[in-house]
Amino acid sequence: PIIMTQSQFTHRDNLHYPFEERGLQFGDGIYEVIRIYNGTYYLLEEHVDRLIRSAEAIKIKLPYDKDEITHLLLELLERNKMTTDGKVYLQVTRGSAPRDHIFPADVLPNIYAYVGDLPRNAEIFKNGVHTITQRDIRWEYCYIKSLNLLPNVLAKQTAKENNCYEAILHKDGLVTECSSSNVYLVKDGKIYTHPATKQILHGCVRMAVERFADELNIPFIEESFEVEEIRLADELFLSSSTSEITPIVKVDNQQIADGKPGKITRQLQEAYVSDAN
Ligand code: PDD
Repeated sequence: PIIMTQSQFTHRDNLHYPFEERGLQFGDGIYEVIRIYNGTYYLLEEHVDRLIRSAEAIKIKLPYDKDEITHLLLELLERNKMTTDGKVYLQVTRGSAPRDHIFPADVLPNIYAYVGDLPRNAEIFKNGVHTITQRDIRWEYCYIKSLNLLPNVLAKQTAKENNCYEAILHKDGLVTECSSSNVYLVKDGKIYTHPATKQILHGCVRMAVERFADELNIPFIEESFEVEEIRLADELFLSSSTSEITPIVKVDNQQIADGKPGKITRQLQEAYVSDAN
């Protein structure tokens, strides 16, 4: 497999990171996960725009502009002769330098991106998933797609240990998002989700969900809902590049409505599939 780095395309085995690397020592970097269908990127522009926003937010100077990043990512797929469903993981760190909290002077960011296979998960798409709720213990800048994922990792692991697919996070009684996806509640024909503030990641699929809702004339209301409101929901679903649009049928061992994926969730899933193809 060929990977992209800051200076060249190379075989994956040629990538050697120095042990003093700010991504490793401080989590001082950002990343993107971009979905691929039939060898073509889905929502590529949204992802590149967000990468640039994340870099600016933590003062990393990207050595490439938007067009150059886009070209490099397209070339990565070509060089790997990618034709199936997959994903690209792209990471940018502040660079390699002797360990010091202060930014190193004149050090270039380290960048790499690689392609991986990621078949669609037909089972969860159709039947939905179980989730648990957990307190959102993350920092105040969750809109930055930062490498610091420890709270997310711990939340997802707890979900897994409870035989659940995801953890729904809440702060001060309000649902923010999940450990690696955005979350939505449907009540009386309207979709509710946390507003795109600094407290959540502005998901690229979330942007697509808003567009689908508009096209389907379903009100998309950026208003956070309470954890307590979940059990009264008509439908619940989550979204991300890896999970697409996935129905949530159980929360904390309690069934949502009749325990089956809801009608609006189904409509959005259909819109997703035709948009992605
Ligand atoms: N996760 N919220 C969080 C905390 C996320 O980590 C993600 C993505 C999302 C959804 O964003 P998008 O629709 O752009 O994929 C929301 C990626 C897939 C990951 O970390 O693997």
